[in-house]
Amino acid sequence: MDGTAHENDLSRIVAADKAHVWHHLIQHKPFETNDPRIIVEGKDMRVWDQNGKEHLDAVSGGVWTVNVGYGRESIARAVYDQLLKLNYFAGSAGSIPGAVFAEKLIDKMPGLSRVYYMNSGSEANEKAFKMVRQIAHKRYGGKKHKILYRDRDYHGTTISCLSAGGQEERNAQYGPYTPGFVKVPHCLEYRAGDQGAPTENYGEWAADQIEEVILREGPDSIGALCLEPVTAGGGVIAPPTGYWEKVQDICRRHDILLHIDEVVCGVGRTGTWFGYQQYGIQPDMVTMAKGVASGYAAIACLATTEQVFEMFKDDASDPLNYFRDISTFGGCTAGPAAAIENMRIIEDEDLLANTTAMGDRLHNNLLALMEKHAVIGEVRGKGLFMGAELVADRQTREPMDEKKVQAVVGDCMAQGVIIGATNRSVPGYNNTLCFSPALIAKPGDIDAITDAVDDALKRVFG
Ligand SMILES: Cc1ncc(COP(=O)(O)O)c(C=O)c1O
Repeated sequence: MDGTAHENDLSRIVAADKAHVWHHLIQHKPFETNDPRIIVEGKDMRVWDQNGKEHLDAVSGGVWTVNVGYGRESIARAVYDQLLKLNYFAGSAGSIPGAVFAEKLIDKMPGLSRVYYMNSGSEANEKAFKMVRQIAHKRYGGKKHKILYRDRDYHGTTISCLSAGGQEERNAQYGPYTPGFVKVPHCLEYRAGDQGAPTENYGEWAADQIEEVILREGPDSIGALCLEPVTAGGGVIAPPTGYWEKVQDICRRHDILLHIDEVVCGVGRTGTWFGYQQYGIQPDMVTMAKGVASGYAAIACLATTEQVFEMFKDDASDPLNYFRDISTFGGCTAGPAAAIENMRIIEDEDLLANTTAMGDRLHNNLLALMEKHAVIGEVRGKGLFMGAELVADRQTREPMDEKKVQAVVGDCMAQGVIIGATNRSVPGYNNTLCFSPALIAKPGDIDAITDAVDDALKRVFG
């Protein structure tokens, strides 16, 4: 089977997929009787499956990635031209698109100055962890090596990223984990009661919980704090008021590097270039992946301050005194070529402003649904990144049974609208519907998404 001669015979593609492809993140038993979904084509915010069925994609490729939408010819052309000129050279040398994109990216990130390339979000976070460990060895006799991560956050799929992962169901059965990662409490105000938090100034209280962990572990043992600006798969958790200012201050006072994981929020998702820019934070390290090239090519970046960079080049006579790391495919030029064009599109089409406007519309529509449907306990998020937490009881906030949450997702899918839900994340709390439409969304798209949810909630909950 050559893969091209059977374009109209997708049953053979489905058979090949069923026989040989091991899909990500999904149980395969049902595929013994049902067909897997195969996405064949995409244009703007819509995708078509093997049966020709059209879907409105409210999750940008399933995992908040295709920020500028499908079928962007100009990105395909930029990648094509670059591949013909030079497809690859190892990252120990530079490349034209690598230099151009780094300059453009740094222009959007005041205070940061260096860009390290690789090809997945997990890898970007691994690199940051490695830098923290190496700094500990170089500067602090190995002592300041611990990395703090937060309950409910996710930083990737490798063993060390899972070691920094605050989602127990995602981590389960993959231990033993890498030592030296220490958990701090989440900052989801809606669940503050479960944490025994006071009813006032929750944001400051949640930040204080981080400092308590630091003081317990010893500030001289902690190298970095790694946080998502808005927690994604752990429940779309936008930080509470007063949180970030205090977190930044805590890091400064204890000489702890602040590593922000922008793999989801980076490059426009919340309406600013980066999620941290919503909160006035000045990070030391920022990792990004998904939206950097909207999935047109694999690219991830770790951006650091000059101060962090300097720590790796201060003594050239020491043969170990540099970041001894490589990512083979970090030298692929398709990534930065696609990323340059992706960024141009966001600027020329004013997509940050659109994200803010359409994010407000999505938020308001979901709030209106909350008036109609008692199962919506809370609506939260930032820009085109929204969550609706479903509960069995608004008073007690008992989480909705996850099968029912999945039934809502399934009903929307049957209507031709792809939405998401937290899944295999936090035990007992896989109950948040997730929305992350492309930044090109129009009012009609947003309304079509929430209309589908309205109908699904009516059908599932009566
Ligand atoms: C916040 C966050 N960080 C890191 C990752 C890992 O990225 P990747 O799947 O590209 O390795 C993800 C993936 O969903 C993520 O949501």
